[in-house]
Amino acid sequence: MNSSLTKQFPKLSWLDEDYIRPYVYVREENKISNPGSLFKLDWFQKNPIYKNPLHVSEVDFADQILRLEGKAFESSNMAMPRWVFYDCAIIPGFVAGFAIKTEKLPAKMREVLKPNPGCEWSPLSLFIIIPTMGKGEWVAHNLCSVNSLVDENERFYGLGFLSKAYALWHANIEVCCGITQWGAHAIKLHSHYGAMEVLTSYTPVHSYARTLTYRLRVDPDYWMRFFDHKPAVNFKEHFRPAGFQIDPTQESSLRDLQTRIEKGQGPFFLEANEIRKLKPVDPLTVFQPK
Ligand SMILES: CC(C)(COP(=O)(O)OP(=O)(O)OC[C@H]1O[C@@H](n2cnc3c(N)ncnc32)[C@H](O)[C@@H]1OP(=O)(O)O)[C@@H](O)C(=O)NCCC(=O)NCCS
Repeated sequence: MNSSLTKQFPKLSWLDEDYIRPYVYVREENKISNPGSLFKLDWFQKNPIYKNPLHVSEVDFADQILRLEGKAFESSNMAMPRWVFYDCAIIPGFVAGFAIKTEKLPAKMREVLKPNPGCEWSPLSLFIIIPTMGKGEWVAHNLCSVNSLVDENERFYGLGFLSKAYALWHANIEVCCGITQWGAHAIKLHSHYGAMEVLTSYTPVHSYARTLTYRLRVDPDYWMRFFDHKPAVNFKEHFRPAGFQIDPTQESSLRDLQTRIEKGQGPFFLEANEIRKLKPVDPLTVFQPK
């Protein structure tokens, strides 16, 4: 049975193909009990392929994930060292995404992933999420999809967005933090999982000071808004403009908001629908709870 999502948005029909499945690359001890029991959605109807990263026989899957990640982050010089993948992702958290039957892998993707002969499944995307010491909080550590590496006609529309949504749904995650760089297109995706609070707007402790740290209470109403481009139903009800904007291109603007946060004048939020409509470098309205 097709999900309500693919019925409404036929360009997501790849989700219903029998040669595509979600995957969860997770060690036994980190497996989620009662996956998908918190958010009532019919979007993800297929059982995931589980792979165990502690088994030598599954290393080819990790190699493919890392080749995809290495290529996707090449231009930003932020590819993940292999040991970071193991120490900071595999051991404390898990990796999820969508996988395709390797025999169906388009040639251009095969060139990047280089699966071993006889390999059954290849990853099309990856999302890494790690539990934090904050109560109920997880941190989104890494997101990428093959869509960033292939021509438009070969893309699986929504692959990156749905990979993160799948992991949040699968692991029943209520609060998600994350880290992204101002001006990156990825902010359009990250802002659509719940009302986005700015934890830091200027972050010199990171390799890139122009980094945004955000936190959100996961709300699937926002997920649908990524596809229908409408405002989240409850945003304007709960938030009002704070009276100023943030300009992602101006360090002084990022520092100004950071100072306000550190002085305890927040919390401050950004609106997903505004982010979706504008270019990632355009100034954004800053909001506060009503
Ligand atoms: C960012 C990334 C994960 C997005 O995944 P994706 O599969 O390409 O995007 P989706 O298909 O889920 O989303 C499609 C929508 O996002 C927009 N979008 C996504 N990435 C974009 C980009 N780099 N430039 C412009 N638009 C982009 C698409 O235009 C589309 O919007 P539309 O509905 O208005 O047409 C992927 O491009 C990627 O791997 N990038 C390289 C790694 C990276 O920067 N990761 C984010 C780290 S914070």
